[in-house]
Amino acid sequence: MNQNLFVSTHPLVLHKITKLRDRETDPKKFRELVRELAALLGYEATQDLLTQPLAVQTPLAPTTGVELKERIGLIPILRAGLGMVEGIWTLMPGAEVWHIGLYRDEKTLQPVQYYNKLPNVPTVTVCLILDPMLATGGSAIATIDILKKWGAKKIKFVGLIGAPEGVNSLSEAHPDVPIYLAALDERLTGSGDPWPTGYIMPGLGDAGDRQFGTGNRE
Ligand code: PRP
Ligand code: URA
Repeated sequence: MNQNLFVSTHPLVLHKITKLRDRETDPKKFRELVRELAALLGYEATQDLLTQPLAVQTPLAPTTGVELKERIGLIPILRAGLGMVEGIWTLMPGAEVWHIGLYRDEKTLQPVQYYNKLPNVPTVTVCLILDPMLATGGSAIATIDILKKWGAKKIKFVGLIGAPEGVNSLSEAHPDVPIYLAALDERLTGSGDPWPTGYIMPGLGDAGDRQFGTGNRE
């Protein structure tokens, strides 16, 4: 059992991830579900954020509560991670968003970087990487490599569906990075499957195409 892996068992998460998988779910509903699932997973992934005391005055009396101490950065991996930002912003509207653009080469399954405009030094103390799919793990590992080179210290991966292959590779490459998922699936597709190699089985298909309605090109 991977110590760093959290797979939600919350009934709301299980209900919504099932609807998300359904091939009859259209892009509008798909985006809504990605947003809601991101909020639920984001809630779990932020349970250890540091706080500091904050004095406030209620209508009745002064009291002391807390406020968040850490500066949160959301790092959506383009394209599919974009749909998770709004959900987490409902919980933490002050979070900064730094985009990383990667796509998987269809033949090699290796991530290819095409966008990164991180500032010279980290502006946040906690980075939440957002990407619905953790397949081979290549995209997540490459993103964490980039963030660590940048100087990020506290990094978490927040996804929706993972394959065991991706979870294992990511945990080996970056054992310090916790992984939060709504589901851990059976395996990746291989040469004997009708679907292209490297997709999560049963998964949900292509998360980017299903969000952005781009799946039906010739
Ligand atoms: C998908 C997904 C991840 C990556 C996962 O992106 O959103 O970023 O594949 O696969 P991996 O774990 O094997 O790296 P894709 O490359 O399809 O790009 P897109 O989001 O632009 O469609
Ligand atoms: N990317 C996706 O969008 N889906 C998969 O199953 C694997 C990678």
